[in-house]
Amino acid sequence: MCGIVGYIGPRQAGHLLLDGLRRLEYRGYDSAGIALLNGGGLEVIKTSGKLSNLEKALVGRVPSGTLGIAHTRWATHGAPTEINAHPHTDQDGNIAVIHNGIIENATAIRTALVNIGHTFESDTDTEVLAHLIGALFQGDLEEAVAAALKEVDGAYGIAVISAQQPDVLVAARKGSPLIVGVGTDEWFVASDASPLLEHTRSVVYLDDGEMVVLTRDGYRVRDLQVTEIQKPVSQIEWDLAKIERGGFEHFMLKEIFEQPESLRNTLRGHLLDDEGTARLLGLNLTDDELKRIDRIVITACGTSWHSSLIGEYMIEELARVPVEVEYASEFRYRNPVIDERTLVIGISQSGETADTLAAIREAKARGARTLGLVNVVGSTIAREVEGGTYLHAGPEIGVASTKAFTSQIAALALFTLRLARLKDMSILQGRQFIQALRELPDKVQQILDRAPDVERLAEEFLDSSNVLYLGRGVNFPVALEGALKLKEISYIHAEGYPAAEMKHGPIALIDENMPVVFIAPKDGVHSKIVSNIEEVKARGGKVIALVNEGDAEIERLADKTFPIPDTVDLLTPILTSLPLQLFAYYVAVRRGCNVDQPRNLAKSVTVE
Ligand code: M6R
Repeated sequence: MCGIVGYIGPRQAGHLLLDGLRRLEYRGYDSAGIALLNGGGLEVIKTSGKLSNLEKALVGRVPSGTLGIAHTRWATHGAPTEINAHPHTDQDGNIAVIHNGIIENATAIRTALVNIGHTFESDTDTEVLAHLIGALFQGDLEEAVAAALKEVDGAYGIAVISAQQPDVLVAARKGSPLIVGVGTDEWFVASDASPLLEHTRSVVYLDDGEMVVLTRDGYRVRDLQVTEIQKPVSQIEWDLAKIERGGFEHFMLKEIFEQPESLRNTLRGHLLDDEGTARLLGLNLTDDELKRIDRIVITACGTSWHSSLIGEYMIEELARVPVEVEYASEFRYRNPVIDERTLVIGISQSGETADTLAAIREAKARGARTLGLVNVVGSTIAREVEGGTYLHAGPEIGVASTKAFTSQIAALALFTLRLARLKDMSILQGRQFIQALRELPDKVQQILDRAPDVERLAEEFLDSSNVLYLGRGVNFPVALEGALKLKEISYIHAEGYPAAEMKHGPIALIDENMPVVFIAPKDGVHSKIVSNIEEVKARGGKVIALVNEGDAEIERLADKTFPIPDTVDLLTPILTSLPLQLFAYYVAVRRGCNVDQPRNLAKSVTVE
């Protein structure tokens, strides 16, 4: 989603801000712009399309200036045109604003401003905010921004500069992430840590309702009234290499191949072999409190929603606590039944997904205990929940979630183990589960070593217009995830279904042009899925099956098979999802798609 970066310090800001925007590209965007204060006033340059367009527009004319703001825009209000790109300026062209989020009462404010003579160029809510700040400006940018923000409803992360105060950058957040980077005699704001890392590891995470005022002497955090707020300075652990491609053609491929390591990192320090359980100190729940939980709701979006479904299978099977999985966007608006014995778990890679955050807040307001399984350290959801565990999968830059998905499943397995051992799971069963978890990274590596086989398979199905993914039990969510991966990066239509549901509709689609991917490890529902494969074959469909090694029955039936190492049934999704990620990747690359930044998609969806 939109990216913000701002700078004040001794260095020339132009190239520094462009580099920052490049680091933010992965979030997804459709136009970009930059504003600098160059001594002679405010200079704003913006273009539609990719950052390369902005770079071309700036060739030989990057404005000078040691204070500036820059933005990548993911369109919400108005088409992705140059006029609608940020920064936007006020009526007099003195104040420039960049903004992530949506100002919900923009139309009313715009009308009021038009009535006093303002004219607008763009269709955006951000231009309205810039005009409002300008209208309230009486020589002090900080006060004008605070006054304007008191008038607006909605969500924002903003950065503002003014030609009339060339040594001040004001930024504020409500519902849209913003981080302050603290360097040596220089300061930054950004919507996430990636543009900051090459300059500083010291950051301050702003909370909703907070403003930061950056000057050449330092920074101050305050609320919209006048109260100053003391904020801790945190250190980012990720280094630059982690957010670079390291020899891989795409971030997505790099992240797929990182999964042995990311899984080890997710599990590290949590497995207690002797006791046959998991240590999860961050849950902030005592054993008694955990035992009292009589219902669990897991809420998430997209890929994280798919891992939540796998969590439902695991928790119900091993811990025997009823679980519901809710799309966060539905949960937050549907008057959910929640009480203090309900545990609500939010799952999110970014920790910034607006709907998941709102669902967590809704659950808290209704008295539920809340936990988060989150990847990005210091993200808003991580700070909002009462406890949880970080995934430690490392930065995920590719828009298509891969390593975060398998780490989410691993983290859910840890939570399930902890809960199950407090219920009826024996120490022996616990130890066996731990052993299976420990073996996973090597088994993942075995699958990755066969990536060329998946690449050849992808070659054969490049021209498909539809693909059906079918699985049963804990591999039904893997079917959903496999289909999502393919459609989001290759633009081939794909659907995931529980295999038996196929007979209730999708079977009508099957003909000799329809590839059907079966996720069919030798688990408790193997014989059932064999019947489903027969049904597809009887109608001429092309079957690609993920099977355990030596599954002669399915090898005989299927057109293509890919072998998966054995593991316990409930952990098979960590293995079966791998070839599906690779398949989607290779198909998309061969079709010439931009796999790291698929069209219309944003990495972190910070608007509802
Ligand atoms: O950061 P989150 O895990 O909260 O993001 C949720 C979804 O937006 C995300 O998983 C999305 O579906 C990905 N593009 C899937 O690859």
